[in-house]
Amino acid sequence: MMEKDRTVLLAGATGYLGSYIAKELAARQIPTKILVRNTEKAKDLKSDCTEIIKAEVTKPETLNGHFEGVDTVISTVGITRQKDGLTYMDVDYRANKNLLEEAKKARVRKFIYISVLNGNLHRNLKILAAKEAFVDELSASGLEYTIIRPNGFFSDMKDFLDMAKKGKIYLFGNGEQKFNPIHGRDLAIACVDAIESEKTEINIGGPDILTQNEVAELALLACGKPINIIHLPHWLRKFVIWVLRTFTSSKTYGPVEFFLTLLADDAIAPRCGGHRLAAFFQKEVDSLTATS
Ligand SMILES: NC(=O)c1ccc[n+]([C@@H]2O[C@H](COP(=O)([O-])OP(=O)(O)OC[C@H]3O[C@@H](n4cnc5c(N)ncnc54)[C@H](OP(=O)(O)O)[C@@H]3O)[C@@H](O)[C@H]2O)c1
Repeated sequence: MMEKDRTVLLAGATGYLGSYIAKELAARQIPTKILVRNTEKAKDLKSDCTEIIKAEVTKPETLNGHFEGVDTVISTVGITRQKDGLTYMDVDYRANKNLLEEAKKARVRKFIYISVLNGNLHRNLKILAAKEAFVDELSASGLEYTIIRPNGFFSDMKDFLDMAKKGKIYLFGNGEQKFNPIHGRDLAIACVDAIESEKTEINIGGPDILTQNEVAELALLACGKPINIIHLPHWLRKFVIWVLRTFTSSKTYGPVEFFLTLLADDAIAPRCGGHRLAAFFQKEVDSLTATS
């Protein structure tokens, strides 16, 4: 069967990566059912081959019937900055499990899921415990599957820009840890290509391998600020994680322990795509200047 003859069900399309996947599917004229909880947020995702369906991935009864005729499910559903009072287990694990159960019932061929680069090595972190528990379910499901394991997204590099705007960037350690973040558009192409791929796991990052110092410099340059990077000791990073784990709930400490833990090591994935971080930063700064 050709790619464009397959129907895809996409969950997570109102998010950063999901919106690029929706656009890539539309550009390839692949018939797509987009599941969203808020149809207003999905109004820019309409196309002649797209059907927008209102459903709650956390409520399995709302998913019933929508998977008929679907060849491949792609899910980017997960908690990043949402504050719905739900846990990673509720969303990253259980909501995706709800999608998987519906997919199995409807005899869907393939399920593509987005986890995190090296996620399986950090199951002690709340977010990754949930994501990797879903990876386990998916691998044992009997469906064809691909787990996409991306490096950090360009959308998350905006944290560097936020500090740069104030003229100072704080990093833990000497800032020489390397990684290759990826633009959502480049990653979306790989996610849609995975419909036809036989690979069960794909590690993927952007074209530029950068140290955290280099990312900080790019952010400061884009903001027209002098290079001003403050290096904080690693013990402080560990202390912050300990304090948050001890005195706050997992909903508060989850994102912080994730970023502070992964920042401590190099994270380099096979390089892919053509979007450069410097250009992304400049575009962000220009659009902020234009709207202010
Ligand atoms: N950001 C990174 O650097 C990075 C790196 C590697 C992997 N990942 C993973 O890649 C995935 C996509 O990331 P992203 O940056 O595109 O995330 P995002 O922009 O926050 O999008 C997440 C999607 O999940 C949906 N969602 C979250 N909580 C939900 C809930 N309770 N009920 C229904 N839908 C819910 C969101 O719907 P609403 O729009 O309605 O909230 C949105 O469509 C995530 O699983 C993330 O963990 C991210």
